[in-house]
Amino acid sequence: MTAVRVGLLGLGTVGSQVAERLSREAFVTERAGVPVELARVLVRDLNKPRAYAPPRELLTTAPEEILDDPSIAVIVEVMGGMEPARSHIEHAIESGKAVVTANKEVMAHHGPTLLELAKARGVDVYFEAAVGGGIPLISTFKIDLLANEISRIEAVINGTTNFIIDRMARDGVGFDAALAEAQALGYAEADATYDVEGFDAVFKLCIMSSIAFRTRIHPAEVYREGIRDLDPVDFAYAAELGYAIKLLAQARADGDEVEVRVHPTCVPTSHLLAAVHGAYNAVLIEGDLVGPVLLYGQGAGGRPTASAVVGDIIDLVFSMRKGISNRIAVDFSRAPRRRPMDQVRTAAYLRLHVADRAGVLAEVTRVLGELGISISSIVQKALIVEHAAAELVILTHPARECDLLAARERLASLSSVYAVPAFLRALSEAR
Ligand SMILES: NC(=O)c1ccc[n+]([C@@H]2O[C@H](COP(=O)([O-])OP(=O)(O)OC[C@H]3O[C@@H](n4cnc5c(N)ncnc54)[C@H](OP(=O)(O)O)[C@@H]3O)[C@@H](O)[C@H]2O)c1
Repeated sequence: MTAVRVGLLGLGTVGSQVAERLSREAFVTERAGVPVELARVLVRDLNKPRAYAPPRELLTTAPEEILDDPSIAVIVEVMGGMEPARSHIEHAIESGKAVVTANKEVMAHHGPTLLELAKARGVDVYFEAAVGGGIPLISTFKIDLLANEISRIEAVINGTTNFIIDRMARDGVGFDAALAEAQALGYAEADATYDVEGFDAVFKLCIMSSIAFRTRIHPAEVYREGIRDLDPVDFAYAAELGYAIKLLAQARADGDEVEVRVHPTCVPTSHLLAAVHGAYNAVLIEGDLVGPVLLYGQGAGGRPTASAVVGDIIDLVFSMRKGISNRIAVDFSRAPRRRPMDQVRTAAYLRLHVADRAGVLAEVTRVLGELGISISSIVQKALIVEHAAAELVILTHPARECDLLAARERLASLSSVYAVPAFLRALSEAR
């Protein structure tokens, strides 16, 4: 049996765990049907200590030694970032090599183009690890739910923000302190912008929704808000109303329209995603035949992510041995309209600082009523003595985003309203 030779681009958190699992030759051969040989490994620094170090002579800092080696049939890209990773993947496909990648940034921006190129070249690109680390999501969409029209994806898909949010919710810690703690514990990078501003969740949502809705959804099309402006007090008030606040990635297909958005959302505590804590991720998918499906697990980390990467390698090698490529090709040919954010229907949570006098409540409810927004609950909270102000928390029934934003503006302009410090969307089953 001729071994399939693999070139690994990257030997960091994920790459070293991939190399370690591939070093278990009998285990991999049993599953792939042929030996899988780690041929070369691309790194930046040849002398860096590694969690798992393959033989030193396999390491190189020259990508062409891997990409232009005709004996290497599979490229595994786990180096991360946009460039040179995207170019290396493209080069590999052009050279007739199959690719396995964990790169959400590349796949969210260029996935459909790379997959079409791969189809034309008769090779495969597998990317299970690009979304949700070890949680089997891509194969779920590509294969297991193929018989369904997917109508809804709701996901807690970024462990860093979920860790920060947990700290804010459970212990009343402010955002900056919770972020610093996440960084000290290794849950957040020194530059956590991609996570806390919601970009990482956007990339993952793009990949999932493009496959689910069979259309190209680009990151620039996704409405995005991060968690930086969240205030611990809203976690406490939301909890009293029966809600948890999560950074929720949502995609919906409704007739010939799709909506895709990532923002902090009040999620009913009875909702399955409200119970996803810390670095765990979960994705709820609704199909017309299957109904709701929940996938839950570790969305990051070297070993869970290597589980997805090595699974892809084995599946790919098995197919190659049988002479099969593009077993289930993803299709992006549909062109549903994108629903603009201001036309999205959502419930909302508003916190207001109002004058502590009679008649204020009537003024507030009149503004909401004039915009056709009905109130689900309204609670008067603590008196802020130094400002002679009361705090009002309002939960609305679903309304159009544009009407909710108009309400926020009109409420803020009332003489009896001093400020509207919080406006959050809320999940509601009635839409
Ligand atoms: N970590 C996770 O939990 C996780 C989860 C899901 C998906 N992913 C994805 O998996 C990929 C890898 O993540 P990671 O956490 O393993 O990253 P990492 O720890 O930073 O490792 C990156 C590796 O790539 C090498 N590398 C980067 N740029 C290079 C360049 N220009 N030339 C040569 N080598 C280069 C680095 O070499 P040196 O070691 O020599 O610096 C390092 O070994 C990313 O796309 C990430 O989004 C990661």
